[in-house]
Amino acid sequence: MAPVQAQVLPISPESGIVAEKVRDGIDLQVNGERFRHIGDPQMPLLWYLRDVLQLTGTKYGGEHGGNGADLVLLDGKAVSAITVPIAKLAGKAVTTVEGLAANDGSLHPLQQAFIDEDAIGCGYCTPGWLIAGVDLLLHKPHPNDGDIDQLPNLCRCGCQARVRRAIKRAAAGKAGRP
Ligand code: FES
Repeated sequence: MAPVQAQVLPISPESGIVAEKVRDGIDLQVNGERFRHIGDPQMPLLWYLRDVLQLTGTKYGGEHGGNGADLVLLDGKAVSAITVPIAKLAGKAVTTVEGLAANDGSLHPLQQAFIDEDAIGCGYCTPGWLIAGVDLLLHKPHPNDGDIDQLPNLCRCGCQARVRRAIKRAAAGKAGRP
């Protein structure tokens, strides 16, 4: 008996079928864990974090970012996660707010300082402030009010003054102390 021929569908504009190349994976690290993304390489990092990895601490801050809600650390530098496609993350290390605490669960000193200074209102902006603050403290260990006011973050609950105090408390090594 003659072998059965596999049916080959015609690929033409009329068919509505689009040929797509097999995608290579994009390897990246998030909060110390390694992941391989094999979906759309143009997917913004923010949606990868929130929808794929279920890391919902990083918030949407508009389609161009800019208000600090969607900040993450990329190789130690704060960047807006909505503006970075996964395609640019091969071999890079991302840290989100979920990755700031130590493995034993103890808070990052800046997280503790936010609690100490009651610098959290509704909390929407808080993850972004924490990421921006960690970046600031890494590059300027003793920032002044002007340095803090230059961060891109906004708080609609009016917590800026307490955020300033929290960042300066962490800088002074007083997190968790009276
Ligand atoms: S705490 Fe509500 S927006 Fe900042």
